Amino acid sequence: MTNAPILVLGGLGKTGRRVTDRLEARGLAVRPVSRSTPIRFDWADESTWDAALAGTGALYLVPPAERWGTTPIARLLARAGQRRVVLLSARGADFAGEPVHEREVRENSPEWTILRPSWFAQNFSEGEFAAGIGAGRLALPTGDGRDAFVDAEDIADVAVAALTEDGHAGQVYELSGPQPLSFPDAVARIAEASGRRIEFAHCTPAEFAATVPGPLGELLATLLAGVARNVGDHVSDGVRRALGREPRSFGDFVARTFASEPVQA
Ligand SMILES: NC(=O)c1ccc[n+]([C@@H]2O[C@H](COP(=O)([O-])OP(=O)(O)OC[C@H]3O[C@@H](n4cnc5c(N)ncnc54)[C@H](OP(=O)(O)O)[C@@H]3O)[C@@H](O)[C@H]2O)c1
Repeated sequence: MTNAPILVLGGLGKTGRRVTDRLEARGLAVRPVSRSTPIRFDWADESTWDAALAGTGALYLVPPAERWGTTPIARLLARAGQRRVVLLSARGADFAGEPVHEREVRENSPEWTILRPSWFAQNFSEGEFAAGIGAGRLALPTGDGRDAFVDAEDIADVAVAALTEDGHAGQVYELSGPQPLSFPDAVARIAEASGRRIEFAHCTPAEFAATVPGPLGELLATLLAGVARNVGDHVSDGVRRALGREPRSFGDFVARTFASEPVQA
């Protein structure tokens, strides 16, 4: 380990922000970057890369979902030089063989760790489903298919371990929560904890895609249709393998995030 700042891409995102907070809490130097940080990093603008990379050490690499499979990772890593890299990929990303972003990380960094999380619990509170939860009606094309939602806090714990400790190089960690749950059940739990009426509605992939601007809508619709086929209806052992403890439950996330304030007497 050196004292060089750890570079966190997607530094204000769901996992990047949590990784940054943890590193700072340990007193480690960290540089969170994205298109909206003071030191700007834009995958689509190579002129921003050198300033973001300058003087940094290990790298937490988050490819934006809308650029899935098209981020120029090999070019960035060639510019970055030899360093430890922790890649945020996705569970099931290898459904048609090794995905290009995982291969480029493996082939271009001396020490790599790959995280493959299931759907984040935090999609309901700060991601694409949060608006529907807030509005009291969430429409998704998942049917009653189940996924073992992972808590972004657990992803951040694993990422920080891999960035700062030995023993994680060459590991592919599939990360999930401890129990598969359907999306209607997840919404029902959030409604119960928050004391609000929140309806789950079934829709088609095309109807869902129309609610999210840009290419992300089509991508998410395809992935959510996979949920309906139960591709994520299983539990993975990555949190236990990486950290030696069980993953946080969806109930824990809901209680922390949605529980209504106790009524004052
Ligand atoms: N969410 C899930 O359930 C889930 C599950 C499995 C895997 N994943 C994977 O996790 C990764 C992160 O997805 P997320 O949905 O959780 O997003 P996120 O990390 O919450 O947000 C994406 C981040 O990328 C940054 N970004 C977007 N476009 C960029 C660009 N052109 N250059 C530089 N930075 C850019 C954004 O910041 P700025 O807008 O400030 O640039 C933001 O910080 C994706 O690869 C996704 O496939 C997500």
